[in-house]
Amino acid sequence: MTTDTATRTLRVTEPRKVERLVAGRATSDGDGVKLTRVLTQPLQSRLDPFLMLDAFGSDNPDDYIGGFPDHPHRGFETITYMIAGRMQHRDSAGNEGLLENGGVQWMTAGRGVIHSELPQQEEGVMEGFQLWLNLPGKDKMSAPWYRDFGAADLPRFTTEAGVAVTVIAGESHGTQGAVTREATAPLYLDLHLPAGASFEQALPAGHNAFVYVYRGELRIAGEQVPVQRMAILANDPQSDGVLLEAAGETRALLIAGRPLNEPIAQYGPFVMNTEQEIYQALNDFRDGTLA
Ligand code: CO
Repeated sequence: MTTDTATRTLRVTEPRKVERLVAGRATSDGDGVKLTRVLTQPLQSRLDPFLMLDAFGSDNPDDYIGGFPDHPHRGFETITYMIAGRMQHRDSAGNEGLLENGGVQWMTAGRGVIHSELPQQEEGVMEGFQLWLNLPGKDKMSAPWYRDFGAADLPRFTTEAGVAVTVIAGESHGTQGAVTREATAPLYLDLHLPAGASFEQALPAGHNAFVYVYRGELRIAGEQVPVQRMAILANDPQSDGVLLEAAGETRALLIAGRPLNEPIAQYGPFVMNTEQEIYQALNDFRDGTLA
């Protein structure tokens, strides 16, 4: 027999296992910004609908000061989450915003934007993440959309175990995130777990999911996930969620979404379904009609 309390405290009965750990690849992008590409191109179909996750973090201005000068995008969405530092954004749709400590910028490139992301500081720590979320083919040529969320605008809650949860997208423990998307139902949580705390999250079995630990260390279904590692969570049809356990103080991103199961054609900042659509994007960019 189950009591009310038991059902409230134990939502996940068949937690997902870790399929594999990924270390990411050190690279640079934009005007020499050093970063770790955690979700790389070979993982795009495994982690459909997510196309890329970059983690950047440095207290050396040489690693970030060049920023990302004007560049185009078409066919997907970029979600930039700033942990520390300030970045100025400007785009061809006339949007402009300052992204700072704890803020999120959600940009739907749709049929095309040209934008720049430039650091507004000459010293100190710059740390954050950029996630790329694919759009279904029918929405790839939609109008661009953009929104800035300051840290105070992001929905958050604290569990009984003391886990502080920021809900950037999707829904967690009854709290709706800042953004929802029908086609891919993305879940994007930033979790701060105190030592000894655990956190559970319901996940539809068919959704692809991963966890990125950026401070501390997690245990997921008996597997240790060290700092700066991505754990790809197995898709077991029996599983109903994930259970994360932290021995020490830990911070991690939990990201999940419904796969689109469409062909992915990527050329740099353009992600379409076919090669022909990529040529079209390149032509439009060259002709000045992309954005
Ligand atoms: Co960009």
